[in-house]
Amino acid sequence: MSAHDNSHDLEVRDSNVVDRFEDPGHPDHQPRKGDTDPKANKKAERQVLFLFAVSVLGTIGFVVAYFALPPGDTAESMRTSNLALGGALAFALLGIGTGAIHWAKALMNDHEKSEERHLQRSDDETRAAAVEVLAEGTADSGISRRGALKGAVVSALALFPITIALPLIGNIGEDWNVGKLKHTIWKKGVRLSRDPNGRPIKASDVTIGSVFHVIPDNLEEHHETGDYMDQKAKAVVLLVRLDPRDLKADQSPAGETWSYDGIVAYSKICTHVGCPVALYEQQTHHLLCPCHQSTFDIADGARVVFGPAKRPLPQLPITVDDEGYLVAQSDFTQPVGPSFWERETK
Ligand code: FES
Repeated sequence: MSAHDNSHDLEVRDSNVVDRFEDPGHPDHQPRKGDTDPKANKKAERQVLFLFAVSVLGTIGFVVAYFALPPGDTAESMRTSNLALGGALAFALLGIGTGAIHWAKALMNDHEKSEERHLQRSDDETRAAAVEVLAEGTADSGISRRGALKGAVVSALALFPITIALPLIGNIGEDWNVGKLKHTIWKKGVRLSRDPNGRPIKASDVTIGSVFHVIPDNLEEHHETGDYMDQKAKAVVLLVRLDPRDLKADQSPAGETWSYDGIVAYSKICTHVGCPVALYEQQTHHLLCPCHQSTFDIADGARVVFGPAKRPLPQLPITVDDEGYLVAQSDFTQPVGPSFWERETK
């Protein structure tokens, strides 16, 4: 492009320079139906009432479900209980939220206001005005005029905390002894059984590279004591057979052997935040936690080789009994699960 063309373009641009925009203003204010039609206004009020009533019913439903559907000790009863509590809680919260929004949109006064931009810190006068606006907003909400609505919102807000308090109150008197977290039902001589059928495992059934999900043979007894799920959650084990030559660490610090002919057993509960660790990579002997990818080397004492976990998976020392079944030598060598305040991280 020539020098002449450039100067021509600049002139054209200069003549089009706009140093300010016209204020487009506001479109005309459209009143809501309820502002002009008292029937519509009443209808909106009934809708708000209905939404707060839904919240109240949700809270009542929560209380009923809490007592009528205790979690029990089966997966089915826990699912039913959680579903009922969660559903009721959803209605309790949804009713309050949608009721408040609908009230603000359909019933509160519909003023349009424009505000100039100003410095972030308002002067004292503006701050005092803000307080006045808040007071005006309270008056605008009509809470003093609409007695039924006042009752509904107060009931919904007053009852809702029950959904939080009840489970806490219900747990008063429970055994909060965290020492229980340190032990599982594994003990000397307890057979290792397949999960979920409970069939005991013989060492001869475990071929090199195979993986078994394991529960303690004495878990069945806990159906009667009502803590089957609690005990199972702590005691689950992953059992793998390696070529004994691949094992880098199979001895306790005291020199006892914790594995049996290449068979090792480790807690399945990730030491990060407790997901089940169950993805085994045969070639590398790595065990991967699907939640945050912590990776443990089970040929090397389940040492952490990657990820956020801070300590190895606790090992279950094993051996065989007279009939060739795999049995525990003791409980796990360390407390299972995520690290907590009293537990070493290394
Ligand atoms: S729970 Fe396993 S890595 Fe986070």
